[in-house]
Amino acid sequence: MAIVSIETNPFSDQRPGTSGLRKKVTVFQQQNYLENFVQSMFNALGNIQGNTLIVGGDGRFYNTEAIQTILKMAAANGYSRAIVGKDGLLSTPAASCVIRKYHASGGIILSASHNPAGPTGDFGIKYNVSNGGPAPESITEAIFDYTKIIKHYKTLDDTDVELCTIGQQSLGQMTVDIIDPISDYADLMAELFDFSAIRTLLASNGFKMRFDGMHAITGPYAKEILEKRLGAPVGTVINGIPLPDFGNGHPDPNLTYAKELVDEMFSDNAPVFGAASDGDGDRNMILGANTFVTPSDSLAILAANAHLVPAYNKGLTGIARSMPTSQAADRVAEKLGIESHETPTGWKFFGNLLDAGSVTLCGEESFGTGSNHIREKDGLWAVLFWLNILAVRKQSVTDIVEQHWYQFGRNYYTRHDYEGIASDSAVQLMTDLEAKLASFPGKALANRTVSYADNFSYTDPVDNCVSSNQGLRIGFDDGARIIYRLSGTGTEGATLRVYIESYQADSTLLHLETQSVLQDLIHLADELAEITLRTGRTEPTVIT
Ligand code: G1P
Ligand code: ZN
Repeated sequence: MAIVSIETNPFSDQRPGTSGLRKKVTVFQQQNYLENFVQSMFNALGNIQGNTLIVGGDGRFYNTEAIQTILKMAAANGYSRAIVGKDGLLSTPAASCVIRKYHASGGIILSASHNPAGPTGDFGIKYNVSNGGPAPESITEAIFDYTKIIKHYKTLDDTDVELCTIGQQSLGQMTVDIIDPISDYADLMAELFDFSAIRTLLASNGFKMRFDGMHAITGPYAKEILEKRLGAPVGTVINGIPLPDFGNGHPDPNLTYAKELVDEMFSDNAPVFGAASDGDGDRNMILGANTFVTPSDSLAILAANAHLVPAYNKGLTGIARSMPTSQAADRVAEKLGIESHETPTGWKFFGNLLDAGSVTLCGEESFGTGSNHIREKDGLWAVLFWLNILAVRKQSVTDIVEQHWYQFGRNYYTRHDYEGIASDSAVQLMTDLEAKLASFPGKALANRTVSYADNFSYTDPVDNCVSSNQGLRIGFDDGARIIYRLSGTGTEGATLRVYIESYQADSTLLHLETQSVLQDLIHLADELAEITLRTGRTEPTVIT
């Protein structure tokens, strides 16, 4: 039970990205790799003596090994209590919920979100602060600084904790509480939504829904909430058993990867409502019979209908969206007369706004939506929000979406991802494009005039922290935009994301095919950044 100090050498590649440190499992399996990062986290946090730490992950390969390592190091570094989800499981939103509920000083979440898992897949680790949200850049950068100089880490020479037994154990001076990973989160959902109205909807004749857990963490949460507490028939949740390799799938809830669900929702006998979540449970995709709701539209629709839901019926204070997310939500905020904020990509930028009470709902185009109930995006929360709206409005998903467009106009929107391009040519492409931006304003391009062209920089209105270099944007006089970013979550080469949007208010032009409507802008985006020329790619890897 002795505390031991182990000598180590720094790794140079431990800078956290958009959402924590993500690497191949094999990278994390190198001797001391995880230990170095965890000790650097503890060093960056400073005084952790006597604190409570939440620990859990999405169940992917290496989850339990990592948790055992982290618990011993937490005990050796002075935490007095660790609260851990049974079997080492906690979805990202459940971890955020539990950090807040038990007033922990923070939490460590093991996940690489929607990235594939298994021995050759990805692993990840991130730290969330006491409000339940991802650590701000000041902390992630401090962690990175410590990783560069680390010489020792502290751990405990002790046996492993039994992760499969709910109850209390001790590890050195630290108490370890193994908790049910689902109940606290499910209880919170029951407080926010009208479960009795949703129960009636799910039992009504002709209403059928399907939820795809994609072999990842949300299966057990969805079974508990949808099938047990809300009475949906057993079998409503498909792919509901979390597997360490996520069934060799890619648990990203989009039209490409959630194929089984998408095929059913676009079939002749489609259910009324379909949804899916990702590896760690913070993303969501919403579908109606033969209808896909873009995440940007979903945020706007949730905001416009929030008064129908118990938790939000007193009104929203504001809405925040990440910069590349379509401007659909801004129109709702304007109509409601509430604040609207545009932040850089990544959930960590919403934390201060939520804490300050400036916004109630937040969203990203990357299938993330959430509210002030926790400080992470929340997949099942979005599904329940939609069910609550459907229960009150008694209309189809398609009708709700179309009526929204008639009222607010439609933001045609697409994201083109070019995955696995060589990092140096991706960086060069961005550098060269940025150098040209200053000459764009006032130019006529794609039958529009450029209003602004810049590298997005954000000043947090709460702590005045400046985050620069957050994506290149070109905005046009009619509200259309082209945005370029390099992904901060990939583990191989670079991923270039191009986001394209144009607004249409004419009610006769609301039902066109997105890629065709945006064709001139798509073409222009390629031309301006010389994507094909520089990468040899004639089309994106993934279109959403
Ligand atoms: C991606 C998404 C971003 C999201 C993040 C974590 O980051 O684009 O919106 O917050 O995953 O889920 P990116 O790879 O673009 O840096
Ligand atoms: Zn995720």
